[in-house]
Amino acid sequence: MDNSLNGRKALVTGGASGIGAACARALAARGAKVVVADVDAPGAAALADELGGTAWTVDLLDVDSLAALSLDCDILVNNAGIQKVAPIEEFEPAEFRRILALMLEAPFLLIRAALPHMYANGFGRIINISSVHGLRASAYKSAYVSAKHGLEGLSKVTALEGGERGVTSNCINPGYVRTPLVEKQIADQARLHGIPEAEVLAKVMLTESAVKRLVEPAEVASLAAWMASDDAGMVTGASYTMDGGWSAR
Ligand SMILES: NC(=O)c1ccc[n+]([C@@H]2O[C@H](COP(=O)([O-])OP(=O)(O)OC[C@H]3O[C@@H](n4cnc5c(N)ncnc54)[C@H](O)[C@@H]3O)[C@@H](O)[C@H]2O)c1
Repeated sequence: MDNSLNGRKALVTGGASGIGAACARALAARGAKVVVADVDAPGAAALADELGGTAWTVDLLDVDSLAALSLDCDILVNNAGIQKVAPIEEFEPAEFRRILALMLEAPFLLIRAALPHMYANGFGRIINISSVHGLRASAYKSAYVSAKHGLEGLSKVTALEGGERGVTSNCINPGYVRTPLVEKQIADQARLHGIPEAEVLAKVMLTESAVKRLVEPAEVASLAAWMASDDAGMVTGASYTMDGGWSAR
């Protein structure tokens, strides 16, 4: 067994499903005590039970309640996210604000809440689950692409401020990952692109990727676990793609 994260406390947002659940499992498997933070209370509780961790039921859209928060985690995985696919002229302004709040403002507030403990210990790992859409754009994803590009900036600023104090901050940039978030957008993508649902994978999601398959959540999680380790101490301010070659174009 790999005990490289023994004694570390990790907090994973959106930890009840998909990439977050895979990260929680990977960090726990290496010895970390994991807090599974999610708006899905039963999902967070079930996984926390399985991992011997704890569940934190939280709606990260309630950003006002995060302003006075103080966190004692050593590893923070900013992962919770949602998607909305629509052309800009039809994109609801309220939906745009919601996506920015959950995927940019909440990560800022959680980093802000976690840094004092990390600075006091001289160790911290901020791992931001960005996306290839943090580096590249796709049509119909104005809010998501804006939030992820913003997260890239936030991550780099965190890296610069934390560098001398033992805190690293990095982004992981996956292409399409096999999770409910992707399954939910297949119908919308089919309608917007005027193609059958069965063709969305090949004609929309994997067109730019050299490796023509979805990323598995466990693959993303293994990179996150390495970023959390002592081995990755010189990795900061970076954005590690796992996009099957998409961003090589
Ligand atoms: N699936 C992909 O193809 C893909 C690719 C690149 C990046 N990402 C990013 O990975 C992250 C996770 O995505 P996923 O595909 O695993 O999604 P998912 O839908 O499987 O899981 C998202 C989790 O976030 C939680 N969540 C949603 N709103 C919340 C809120 N207000 N407060 C607290 N928790 C909330 C959900 O309950 C869920 O457990 C997201 O940031 C996403 O942008 C996903």
